[in-house]
Amino acid sequence: MKYLRSCHALGILSFIVILAYILSSSLATELDSIRVSQSLSDGMTLVSQGGKFELGFFSPGNSQKRYLGIWYKKIPVHTVVWVANRVNPINDFSGILTVNSKGNLILTENGTETTFWSTISLKQAKNPVLELLDSGNLVLRNEGESNPKDYLWQSFDYPSDTFLPKMKLGRDLQTGLDWRITAWKSPNDPSPGDFSLGLVLSDYPEFCIMNGTKKFFRYGPWNGVYFSGHPDLSYTYMFEVSVVINKDEVSYSTNTKIDSIIARGAINETSHALSQYVWDENVQNWQYFGSSQHDMCDHYGLCGANSYCNVTESQHVCQCLEGFSPKSPEAWNSNNTTQGCVRDKPLSCNNNVTSTDGFVKYKGLKVPDTQHTKLHENSTLDECKNLCLKNCSCMAYTNSDIRGGGSGCVMWFGDLSDIKWFQSGGQDLYIRLPAFESGLQHRNKKKVIITSTIAAICATLLLCVYVIYKVQRKNAEKSKIEGYIDDTDLPLFDLQTITTATHKFSLNNKIGQGGFGPVYKGTLADGLEIAVKRLSPSSGQGMTEFITEVKLIAKLQHRNLVKLLGCCIQGEEILLVYEYVVNGSLDKFVFDQTKSKSLDWPQRFGIIYGVTRGLLYLHQDSRLRIIHRDLKAGNVLLDVKLNPKISDFGMARTFGGDQTEGNTNRVVGTYGYMAPEYAIDGLYSIKSDVFSFGILVMEIICGTKNRALCHANKTLNLIGYAWRLWKEEKALELIDPTIKESCVISEVLRCIHVSLLCVQQYPEDRPTMASVLLMLASEMDLVDPKEPGFFPKRVSIEANSHLYQSELSTNDELTVTSLDGR
Ligand SMILES: *[C@@H]1O[C@H](CO)[C@@H](O)[C@H](O)[C@H]1NC(C)=O
Ligand SMILES: *[C@@H]1O[C@H](CO)[C@@H](O)[C@H](O)[C@H]1NC(C)=O
Ligand SMILES: *[C@@H]1O[C@H](CO)[C@@H](O)[C@H](O)[C@H]1NC(C)=O
Ligand SMILES: *[C@@H]1O[C@H](CO)[C@@H](O)[C@H](O)[C@H]1NC(C)=O
Ligand SMILES: *[C@@H]1O[C@H](CO)[C@@H](O)[C@H](O)[C@H]1NC(C)=O
Ligand SMILES: *[C@@H]1O[C@H](CO)[C@@H](O)[C@H](O)[C@H]1NC(C)=O
Ligand SMILES: *[C@@H]1O[C@H](CO)[C@@H](O)[C@H](O)[C@H]1NC(C)=O
Ligand SMILES: *[C@@H]1O[C@H](CO)[C@@H](O)[C@H](O)[C@H]1NC(C)=O
Ligand SMILES: *[C@@H]1O[C@H](CO)[C@@H](O)[C@H](O)[C@H]1NC(C)=O
Repeated sequence: MKYLRSCHALGILSFIVILAYILSSSLATELDSIRVSQSLSDGMTLVSQGGKFELGFFSPGNSQKRYLGIWYKKIPVHTVVWVANRVNPINDFSGILTVNSKGNLILTENGTETTFWSTISLKQAKNPVLELLDSGNLVLRNEGESNPKDYLWQSFDYPSDTFLPKMKLGRDLQTGLDWRITAWKSPNDPSPGDFSLGLVLSDYPEFCIMNGTKKFFRYGPWNGVYFSGHPDLSYTYMFEVSVVINKDEVSYSTNTKIDSIIARGAINETSHALSQYVWDENVQNWQYFGSSQHDMCDHYGLCGANSYCNVTESQHVCQCLEGFSPKSPEAWNSNNTTQGCVRDKPLSCNNNVTSTDGFVKYKGLKVPDTQHTKLHENSTLDECKNLCLKNCSCMAYTNSDIRGGGSGCVMWFGDLSDIKWFQSGGQDLYIRLPAFESGLQHRNKKKVIITSTIAAICATLLLCVYVIYKVQRKNAEKSKIEGYIDDTDLPLFDLQTITTATHKFSLNNKIGQGGFGPVYKGTLADGLEIAVKRLSPSSGQGMTEFITEVKLIAKLQHRNLVKLLGCCIQGEEILLVYEYVVNGSLDKFVFDQTKSKSLDWPQRFGIIYGVTRGLLYLHQDSRLRIIHRDLKAGNVLLDVKLNPKISDFGMARTFGGDQTEGNTNRVVGTYGYMAPEYAIDGLYSIKSDVFSFGILVMEIICGTKNRALCHANKTLNLIGYAWRLWKEEKALELIDPTIKESCVISEVLRCIHVSLLCVQQYPEDRPTMASVLLMLASEMDLVDPKEPGFFPKRVSIEANSHLYQSELSTNDELTVTSLDGR
C-alpha cells in the first residue's frame, strides 16, 4: 500500500515535471524588444523583426556554461554570430539581461550581485529600448531615435569572430573604436583566441590577420579595386563592397546583392583564416565559399626582406628582388629564407652627380608591407619617382589607386617585405636600384647563354637518369600501392570474383575505354552491378594516375561523384571497382541526334546543377581539396534517374587546405575543355576546372561539342560562336533545337550567361563554383562576361606537335599530353 502510494506520488511528480517543462517551453517567450522595466532570462529570446536573428542564452559545443549570444533563427544549423560575455560565462541557467535607466546593458545572475558583462554608453539615455535588427545588429537606442550615429550602443561596434553583411571592419578614427573580429579559443570556448582580423594603421593602411600582435597574413592596402593581396574579384558576384577611407574612418563592409543570400565570414580558430560561408537552401547547410589565405606565399614574411614569393616556382618560392642577393646564402639554399636579401651594391643616393639611381618595374605583385609608407594621394607617378630619388631611404613607389590607369602614389621606406607575385592580376611596383644596375640587361643576357648550354648538358644527363629510374620505379610503385591501400579502408576484391563477374573480361562486357585502360561491366554473385576499370599492364605511366585516383576517390563521398567500391591487385592485374552507373556517359546523350531527344531541359538543368554540386564538393570539401583537371561530357555519368556523377579522377590533383593553384610540366586534359592558362603555361587551379565546366554547360545547352565546327561559321569553336551570338544578343540561337519546347528561356539564358562567365580568359574573372551554384539557384543580377579564353585552334597544336604527344582514345576525344611543358 505504502509502495503503491509512493508510486502514485512519483507519477504525479513526473506529471508536474512534464507540465512545468511544457509551460516553460511555451513560456520561452520571444520578445521583440526589451525596455528598462523588462528583462531577458535564460530560456527567453529576443527576435529580430523579420525573424532572421535571435538573441538568447546558449552553451557552445560540448560546454555546459551559458553565454548570451546571437544566432540565425531560421537556420537549422545552430550558428552563433556574436557573444556578449565571451570571457565570463555563467555556470547555470540563472542569467538575466536587463537594460538600466542610464542606457546600459547588464548581464547578471538571478539572486547575486555578480555582473558578467555590461556596456557603457557615453550618450544621454531617454527611454532606452533594446532591439535586434534583421542584420544581426543588437541595438540599444533611445525610443524614437533611428539614426545609427545616435545609438547608445550596438553590437556591430564590438564584433566577435563573425563578419556579417553591413558590419564594418576597420577603425573609427574619431572614437577610436577598433572594428576587429577575433577567433574563438576553441569551438567550446568563445573567449578571444590569438588570431584576429583588423586594420593596421599607417599612411597607407591595410587589413591584416594578426597572431597576437604579430602579422600573420596581409590582405594588403585597398587600391581602389581590391585589396592588393587579394586580386580575385569573384566574390563581387555576390557582394557589393564599400570602402571608406577618410580622416574620420577607415572601414570595409559588404552587402549581399540580393536579400535572400545568407552569408557570413568567420575567422577560423584552427585554420587562422577568414573563411566565408553562404547558406545553401538545397542541402540545408553552410557552403564554404572562400578563404583569405590561399597558398604558402600568404604566410607573412616567409621570404624575409627584399624578396618576393612566387608560388608557381616549384623549387624555390622565394626569390630576391633584382639587385639583391640572399643575406645568408647557406641558410637561403637550405630553405631558411626568413633572413631575406640584401643589396648587392649600395644606392648612390644622389650623392654622386655622375650617376643617379634608377627603378626596375615589376608587374603582378601584392605590394610590400605598408608600415613605413608615405601616401601622396594627389601626386602623379612621376612626382613620386622624383620625391623618392630625393630621399635615400625610399626604396619603392607605385600608384596608390589603380583605377583608370592609376592615380595618386605611395612610397616605401626601408626594407620591402611580404611581396607576392600573382600569375594573373596584381599591381605594378617600381623598385629602386643603384645606377650601376642599369648595366644589368647585358649581364643577364650573358647569363642566359651560359645557362642554356648548361641546361642542354643537364637535359641529356637527366634523360639517362630518367630511363634508369623508370625501369626501377615500376617495381617500386607496385609495393607502394599495396602499402597505400592498406591505409585506406578500401575493400579488396578477389581477382577470381572480378573475372567471374566480367565473364573473364569478355569483349561483350567492355563498356568503354578510359585514358589508362578498358572499362568492363560486371555482375557480382549477389546481383550488384559494377564497373571495373582495368589498368593496362602496358601503360607504365598510368601507375601514378592510378595511385592518385585510389587515394583521392577512396575518401570521397558525394551523390554527384561516382563511388569507388574497392580494388583488386593481384599479379599483373590492377583493377578498380566502381558502382555501375546505368545510363553511361553524358556525351552519349547530348551529342547523339536521337538520344538527345530523351533529355529535356529540366533534366539538363538538373544535370548542370548536379555537376555544379559535385565539382563544388571537390573544390571546397574542407578535408581534401581537389582539382579534377579533366572535366568533360565523357566523364559525367548518368544514373537511372539521370543524376549526374563525375568520374575519372586519374588526372585529379589535391592541393593542401590553403593552396589553390599549381603548376605542372605535364599538361594532361582534353582538347576543347582546357583553360588557356593551363593548356599554354601548365598552370592549373580550381579556375581551370571552372573553365571546363563552362564549356560543358555550353555543350549541354547546344548539343554540340566545343571543338566541333558544325555551325555556319567554320572558323569559330562553340565558345567563340556563343560569344559572338551573345554580343549580337542572339544567344537563344544557341539552344539545341531538341529542347526548344521544354526549355524555360530565362533559365537557359542564365545558364548561357554563367557559362560565359566561367570561360572568361583570365582565371581571376571566373567565378568560383560556390558563386556558380548561387547564380544558378538565385535571381541575382549577373555581371557582364568579358571575352572568353579561346583555346588556341587546332592549327597551333599541330604546329607545336613536337611539344605535344597526342593520343586518340576510343571515344574520339583528343587527349593532349605535353611532356616537357616549357
Ligand atoms: C529570480 O528568481 C526568483 C526565485 O527563483 C524568481 O521568482 C524570479 O522570477 C526570478 N527573476 C527573474 C527576473 O527571472
Ligand atoms: C602565433 O604566435 C605564437 C607566439 O608567438 C607562436 O607560438 C605560434 O606558433 C604562432 N602561431 C602560428 C600559427 O604561427
Ligand atoms: C573552422 O574550420 C573547421 C573545419 O573546417 C570548421 O569545422 C569550423 O566550424 C570552423 N570554425 C568557424 C568559426 O567557422
Ligand atoms: C614565377 O614563376 C613562374 C613559373 O616558374 C614564371 O613564369 C614567372 O616569370 C615567375 N615570376 C617572376 C616575377 O619571377
Ligand atoms: C621549404 O619551405 C617551405 C615552407 O616552409 C616548404 O613548404 C617547402 O617544402 C620547403 N622546401 C624544401 C625543398 O624543403
Ligand atoms: C632560420 O634562420 C633563423 C636565423 O638564422 C633562425 O633563427 C631559425 O631558427 C632558422 N629556422 C630554421 C627552420 O632553421
Ligand atoms: C660616382 O659614380 C661613378 C659611376 O658609377 C663612379 O665611378 C664614381 O666612383 C662615383 N663617385 C662617388 C664619389 O661615389
Ligand atoms: C587632394 O585633392 C583633393 C581634391 O582636390 C583635396 O580635397 C585633398 O585635400 C587633397 N589631398 C591632399 C593630401 O592634398
Ligand atoms: C625620408 O623619408 C623618411 C620617411 O618619410 C623620413 O623620416 C626622413 O626624414 C626622410 N629623409 C629625408 C632626408 O628627407
